[in-house]
Amino acid sequence: MTALRHTDEYATSAHYSGTGDIRCDDDRRSLTVGATFTLRSEVRLVDGVFDPATPDLAEVYRPAGRCVAVVDATVDRFHGAAMRAYFSAHGIPLTTMVCRALEEDKTVDAVCRMAAFLGGDGCDMARGEPVLVVGGGVLADTAGLACALLNRRTPYVMVGTSIVSAVDAGPSPRTCVNGTLMKNALGAYHPPVLTLVDRGLFRTLAPEHLRHGVAEVVKMAAVDDEQLFTLLQRHGRALLDTRFATTGDDPALAAVADEVLFRSLYAYMRHEGTNMFETRQDRPHAYGHTWSTKFEPVAGLLHGHAVAVEMALTATLATLVGWLDDDDRDALLAVCRDLGLAVHHPVVEDLELMRLAQETVRRKRGGTALWAVAPRGLGRCDYLAEVEGSLLAEAVDRHRARCGAFPDGGLGRDMYLRDARWA
Ligand SMILES: NC(=O)c1ccc[n+]([C@@H]2O[C@H](COP(=O)([O-])OP(=O)(O)OC[C@H]3O[C@@H](n4cnc5c(N)ncnc54)[C@H](O)[C@@H]3O)[C@@H](O)[C@H]2O)c1
Repeated sequence: MTALRHTDEYATSAHYSGTGDIRCDDDRRSLTVGATFTLRSEVRLVDGVFDPATPDLAEVYRPAGRCVAVVDATVDRFHGAAMRAYFSAHGIPLTTMVCRALEEDKTVDAVCRMAAFLGGDGCDMARGEPVLVVGGGVLADTAGLACALLNRRTPYVMVGTSIVSAVDAGPSPRTCVNGTLMKNALGAYHPPVLTLVDRGLFRTLAPEHLRHGVAEVVKMAAVDDEQLFTLLQRHGRALLDTRFATTGDDPALAAVADEVLFRSLYAYMRHEGTNMFETRQDRPHAYGHTWSTKFEPVAGLLHGHAVAVEMALTATLATLVGWLDDDDRDALLAVCRDLGLAVHHPVVEDLELMRLAQETVRRKRGGTALWAVAPRGLGRCDYLAEVEGSLLAEAVDRHRARCGAFPDGGLGRDMYLRDARWA
């Protein structure tokens, strides 16, 4: 075997590196190469990301001599002026592509338009020059995919402007568009080199987008961080009501908001960030993302509500297999309901749809097992290799009965996606 020596002199990007080795068989009729690709992805909480006194973005873009940005149109309406003033104050030329970024815009066409803007027909970006992506989860997924395709891999910096893109979709390596069989079916593993999280941006988020975003925080609390779960029990509602302590003046709540965001990010990145290419399926952050990939578009739910419905149902399933006691299941339901998240929806009673979801997800996870995430005590989880139809039917029955005790049957507030046109 020969390991090749490489020097930085020939590097194509400051953000990625790679090594390799080659092995020849003695009969000189076959050879095999091994290659290792290395990336680093940093996540940083910042205050006032577009305040000229905040150095983070200027430090990235001053050396490049310019900044090329893809920006969510709604975010641009609220924060575009501050962003432009920021780059102007630092003397860094800024070119923006402002895009509508609704769930129905998670298409290959949208990605091609972005790639055309960023590439040779537009800004002619160099392979190592980081794109700036400013927006929610939809833009994180689509612009991230455009960056993955451009020059076969162009780095990007993510400013996560929604809760989802701050704690989950933003730093996520899973860039994607929706497929006809399931959500997020087509994509590439391409995390940002830097994610900036500024909860000040949440001040302008619509309440329904705030609420469904917090489901991803509940997710990490339930399966990985019991202290985070306790924080949500105590402060979740206040965080929602104050848009993560960006309205009112409560320094103690602001500290809680930062702690909640950091804990959520840490829990997420310690699993997602160390398994960037999904080479293993022991992924706690996939809690709530097995059956929902199918029933979310069918029911037209906002992503976070779909995740919450599955989390709650799977918690009931966990009580059936002896992984969770009823009190802990009810504690999870109570946190979700306190935040206005759905814990049940009739769509999960369509057992044929649920069976199809399992089939599709099993294939997506490698074809050997389902590996559905379920809580095993609060703040911990385990993986169900299979869920037989009879067990799922029993869980759905029991869960429907439990949620039937709620006056609203377990439905959430503003749980439906208003702007989608699902095929
Ligand atoms: N790739 C992943 O790992 C991953 C993980 C979780 C979710 N997702 C995807 O993320 C999407 C949901 O994310 P989302 O909730 O951010 O949706 P989104 O991007 O649609 O944003 C929600 C709405 O809020 C607006 N918005 C965003 N930031 C704002 C701000 N600061 N002020 C005012 N308005 C703002 C957007 O324009 C949009 O109308 C789904 O498509 C989901 O599949 C992906």
